[in-house]
Parts: sequence; C-alpha cells; structure tokens
Amino acid sequence: MSSTTFAFPPELIERLARARSVAVLTGAGISAESGVPTFRDPGGLWERFRPEELANVQAFLRNPDLVQRWYAYRCKLVREVEPNPGHYALVELERMVPDFTLITQNVDNLHRRAGSQRVVELHGNLLRSYCIDCGRPAEEVNLEAAAEGKPARCPACGGLIRPDVVWFGELLPEEALAEAYAACERAEVFLSVGTSAVVYPAAGLPLEAKRAGAYVAEINLQPSAIADQVDALLLGKAGEILPALVEAVRQTRNTG
Ligand code: OAD
Repeated sequence: MSSTTFAFPPELIERLARARSVAVLTGAGISAESGVPTFRDPGGLWERFRPEELANVQAFLRNPDLVQRWYAYRCKLVREVEPNPGHYALVELERMVPDFTLITQNVDNLHRRAGSQRVVELHGNLLRSYCIDCGRPAEEVNLEAAAEGKPARCPACGGLIRPDVVWFGELLPEEALAEAYAACERAEVFLSVGTSAVVYPAAGLPLEAKRAGAYVAEINLQPSAIADQVDALLLGKAGEILPALVEAVRQTRNTG
C-alpha cells in the first residue's frame, strides 16, 4: 500500500523524520495480521480461556499439565506464523533513528524474528521457559511434550517447568520496566501500536512519554483507553499504516 493512501498529520512525519530518540510500545494488535489472536477483541484469547484458570501461578501449581499444554499450543501457533509488514516497518524505523527502543507487551517473539534489535519484552517471551525450583532456563525442555497428567519437569532437579511470561499477580521484569521508563523519558516521538492500553504498567507508558515531552501517536484498529489523550490517532491496521508511515518518514528525510 502506498503512503499516499493515508493522510498522516504533517507534524508526526516531520517530528519522526527529525527525531534522534523514538520509543514504540506494541500490543497484540500488531501480531493480529500474522494470525496470532489478540486478548480482548471478539474471538480473542480471554474470550475462549479464563485467565484465572490458566495465567497465574496458583492455576499452574493446581494444574501444571493443563497450563503447560495451553502454552505449548500458543508456542506452536507463534512458531507457525510469520512477522507481518507492521513488524518489518518497525525494523526499518529502527535503522533510521539513532536511539530507538521497541517496548513490547507481546510474548510471541515476532519482533525479534522480523529483525528488530533493541526489543524490551515487558511480559516475557513464550519461547523461553525455566524451572520454578532451581530457576535454570529450560529451552531444551519441550513444553509440547507435556501430556495430560504428566507435566514437563526440569531434567536437572525435577521441578516443574513454566513459561517465562508474566502472569496475573506477578511483577514485570524489573530491568525491562526500567529500560522502558528510561526510553519514555528520552523519546521525542512515541508510537503506541495495537494495544487496548488497559493493562498497567505498560498502558501508562505512552502518557509517561507525553509527560516527559514526547509527541505521542496511537495506531490502532479502534481507539484505545487512552486515545483521547494522544497527539495523533491513526485508525486502521498496523500492517498497513506502519509501512506507509515509515515510507513517508523516509521520503521526508531524503528531501529535507
Ligand atoms: P488487547 O487484545 O487488549 O488489545 C489489542 C488491540 O489491538 C485492540 O485495541 C485492537 O483494536 C487492536 N488491533 C487489533 N487488530 C489490529 C490491527 N490489525 N492493527 C492495529 N491494531 C489492531 O491486547 P494488548 O493491549 O496487547 O498480558 O493486551 C495487553 C496485555 O493483556 C497482554 O500483554 C496480556 C494480556 O493480559 C499478559 O499476559 C501479562
């Protein structure tokens, strides 16, 4: 799709073309066009599965094989899909901007697979797992091997293996959160992409950046919970808007 299809606010293009520091926050919406279900849209994951039964440590301890099999299903799903033009556009943008931070709530690894370098994973990564007893990373343990009534266990100590994702009631990884806040402080432009902006602390980052002086643009299919507070709201598919936006920025940089 060509950049002329979208009428971007000129201020957004100019600021992005000049910016030395840009931060981006992504949510499930950016992976929707790759075929990864979002959480809260119709047909989303939380409509079909109850988070209290699957995404918390008590549920895991009660029913480790069920929780492992749910994550194994999601691992399989994300391995079978490919990054989409939205992910690749952010790789391009990173190449243009000296200080670029991609903060993601997604656990699907698609930004890294697309080639993004500076990725801050706020909610972990589905493709990593670790032992809840000895803490050893357990990349080698195949969660998909978890069978009914026989959860996958650590080969070193026999402890249960859990995915390296943040569950309800758990704190976000401290280092990742600190990096995200620091990027918000530095950013001249902040893009919030494909997130409903209801799960904190991630949802607070765009407004944190705005408070620190950034120009904040939201790219979403539908206005998020914070849409009325951003500087520019671009409604549509991330996989269409982002490539067009990055192309418009490239043209402005080349001519300016
Ligand atoms: P949600 O499912 O809450 O929101 C997805 C957003 O993406 C919605 O605002 C949609 O309108 C938008 N959207 C859908 N398709 C899109 C597309 N093609 N292009 C652009 N936007 C699109 O997902 P998140 O905001 O990521 O946390 O959810 C945040 C957190 O809630 C997740 O990280 C997860 C969940 O609980 C944990 O697991 C810790």
